[in-house]
Amino acid sequence: MSKEMIVCKGISKSFPGANGSTLEVLKDISLSINENEFVVVLGPGQCGKTTLINLIAGLEMPTSGNVTVAGNPITKPNPDIGVVYQKTALFPWLSVQSNVGFGPMMKGMKKDERKKIVQHYIDLVGLTGFEKSYPIKLSGGMRQRVGIARAYCNNPSVLLMDEPFGHLDAQTRYLMQEEVVRIWEADKKTILFVTNNVEEAVYLADRIIVLSNCPTHIVTEFDVTLPRPRDYVSRDFLSLRKTVNDSLERTR
Ligand SMILES: Nc1ncnc2c1ncn2[C@@H]1O[C@H](COP(=O)(O)OP(=O)(O)OP(=O)(O)O)[C@@H](O)[C@H]1O
Ligand SMILES: [Mg+2]
Repeated sequence: MSKEMIVCKGISKSFPGANGSTLEVLKDISLSINENEFVVVLGPGQCGKTTLINLIAGLEMPTSGNVTVAGNPITKPNPDIGVVYQKTALFPWLSVQSNVGFGPMMKGMKKDERKKIVQHYIDLVGLTGFEKSYPIKLSGGMRQRVGIARAYCNNPSVLLMDEPFGHLDAQTRYLMQEEVVRIWEADKKTILFVTNNVEEAVYLADRIIVLSNCPTHIVTEFDVTLPRPRDYVSRDFLSLRKTVNDSLERTR
């Protein structure tokens, strides 16, 4: 039986709104993600996708309900949970290899061992040759590669990805979608990836969870069984893309 890695039980989240009102963002969300599963949470803009990521990452606490990762209740940030953001914030004064190795260095890992692990992940994300480059010299896609390598370098069992390709141009976005599947296949992790892009969801996911508008609840989910690597223009891909798109349209 597969092991449940991320479990959200009846989580709701409200924020204080204008004039003393309450803004209900997430409403009674329950989901369970198995070890090494690649789940995409698909929802419209401003529906609370980042809020959901923050709750699972332990950066925010739910108003009600609870989150566990690998069976442990989440009450604060946890090194076993890696996060890749829409815009990766890198230390501008550190080289690619120092950015990637920052976590292991903070943990006090010995230099030789650290060097090996850092090189392994730099190679895995396709940045071989850029070890000594500084972030200012990197393109948007390369920065996201650094963000992915940095997250992997801490060896988390869970990776949360918050629209990591949202700011990239279309061509680079396609390339990074292929890359993230390749990286996941080479080094399996439990991934929860959020996006508002239906095509991206169908390309990446083992399973797509569709969210509604605020107050956000789960509308439906789809198992994606198309073989990988997926073909964006195959008949099956386009047909599923339409079905998922229709379900998202109905939430508006
Ligand atoms: N700390 C906060 N305080 C008050 N309101 C917040 C807070 N965080 C999020 N919100 C509100 O919650 C709603 C959902 O925000 P969130 O950023 O989670 O959505 P999203 O789906 O990630 O949006 P986007 O598509 O822009 O990435 C928004 O209306 C936002 O203003
Ligand atoms: Mg967001």
